[in-house]
Amino acid sequence: MDYRTLKPFPEGFLWGASSSAYQCEGAWDEDGKGPSVKDADPIVPGTSDWKVTSDHYHRFKEDIALMAEMNFNEFRFSIAWTRIMPDGVTENPKGIAHYHEVIDECRRYGIEPVVTLYHFDLPQALQEKYGGWADRQCIDDFINYCRVCYREYGSKVRYFLTINEQNMMALFQGAQYGSEKNQWQANHHMLVAQSKAMILCHEMMPQCKVGPAPNITAIYPATSSPADNLAAMDWDQLRNRLFLDTAVFGTYPEALLNWWKDKGIAPDITEEDYEDLKNGHPDFIAFNYYGAGTVRYVSEEEGKDIKSDTSNFMSGLMTYPGMCTAVKNPLQEKTSYGMGIDPIGLRITLRQLWERYHLPLIITENGCGVPDTLEADGTVHDDYRIDYLRRHIRACQEAITDGVELFGYSPWSAFDLVSTHQGITKRYGFIYINRDEFDLKDMARIRKDSFYWYAKVCASNGKDLG
Ligand code: BG6
Repeated sequence: MDYRTLKPFPEGFLWGASSSAYQCEGAWDEDGKGPSVKDADPIVPGTSDWKVTSDHYHRFKEDIALMAEMNFNEFRFSIAWTRIMPDGVTENPKGIAHYHEVIDECRRYGIEPVVTLYHFDLPQALQEKYGGWADRQCIDDFINYCRVCYREYGSKVRYFLTINEQNMMALFQGAQYGSEKNQWQANHHMLVAQSKAMILCHEMMPQCKVGPAPNITAIYPATSSPADNLAAMDWDQLRNRLFLDTAVFGTYPEALLNWWKDKGIAPDITEEDYEDLKNGHPDFIAFNYYGAGTVRYVSEEEGKDIKSDTSNFMSGLMTYPGMCTAVKNPLQEKTSYGMGIDPIGLRITLRQLWERYHLPLIITENGCGVPDTLEADGTVHDDYRIDYLRRHIRACQEAITDGVELFGYSPWSAFDLVSTHQGITKRYGFIYINRDEFDLKDMARIRKDSFYWYAKVCASNGKDLG
């Protein structure tokens, strides 16, 4: 529905932007840092590796000063487990000191650090030692790592995010575990680890708030057929609810569990696991949103011949024979990389999350990744990004007017960083980093047009959308 008057953003709303360690820090082996699975993964041909990225490790002070100039009161970043525990278990004082400095620098400007504990970058040592999340041991190692983070940073960080986009890792990188049963077993270990991380956070630091950070999006049926509607409901269950019902209620969605059991691929869940899942309670839900998904029903038979496209999880083109296959939505706008532009989908997602879970929400990613052009006069005219963000911020305001409790907007990304699969050419930032895929140039920080625009949005608490 349309409103005649929209409610304002609440007082104290968090305005900022996001990043992740392996995509922006560089310094991949400096000051004792160990390799993560990201450093060990093969690089997509034609794109940058993770060795230097945006060189944020060395330039974080300059970057945070620019965020302050943009009037941020929030910055979301992740801690690299391998920086503070290079082999996944042994502490590295230099790495620990680094994040103290980053957090202190944020605080100096009144910027609230929102800290992701895990953003895709498992220590390679644990992968080699026992196969990473496939093994239950990973739960304990993750909790020990969280304990160090809480002990060190708990007195100066208010918001912790457990695991970034567990759903994308489970769905799109599951093949590494060899079978569907193992895929869901590894995912189950991660869910238990997340719950234990939330329990530990509350025990050690009752003043802190902690929540999950999956990639959540509304799911549309491709047609109005009943079968496609059921397919949309099923995909929503597998893609979204599996990760949030377990986090919030401590239960797996029932139909999904029964479907897995029928196929013989359900994870083994102990009584103790259920206890842990039940006892972990998020204080809020953080979620990343890039555009709603669309699916149609596909039978076992037909589904066998439809290949999933797992080359890039942003394409989201998965097939689950006997359930659904994702399709391109001709009615949805797209960026040049084929990512959906769907602000209404954001409003729907916000409403669904609020109605299901009744927990405060924060958007920890949303953004427009495209190649920007640095003009000869040193400017970057990214009006497409301004338009994208403006429309999504407006959708947030509509959802707030609907009654949703949203307390922050932290788009992707604060400054340019290396995309998960498409290099530095696919830029999301408000700040241009002067480097190419392989030519590191001078790595100068350059304010894009969106920088000036977003500075006004933040300063006006979302009133001035330009
Ligand atoms: C999110 C991830 O899925 O999307 C980020 O949390 C990622 O790490 C972002 O960079 C944008 O995706 P991409 O593939 O364009 O980098």
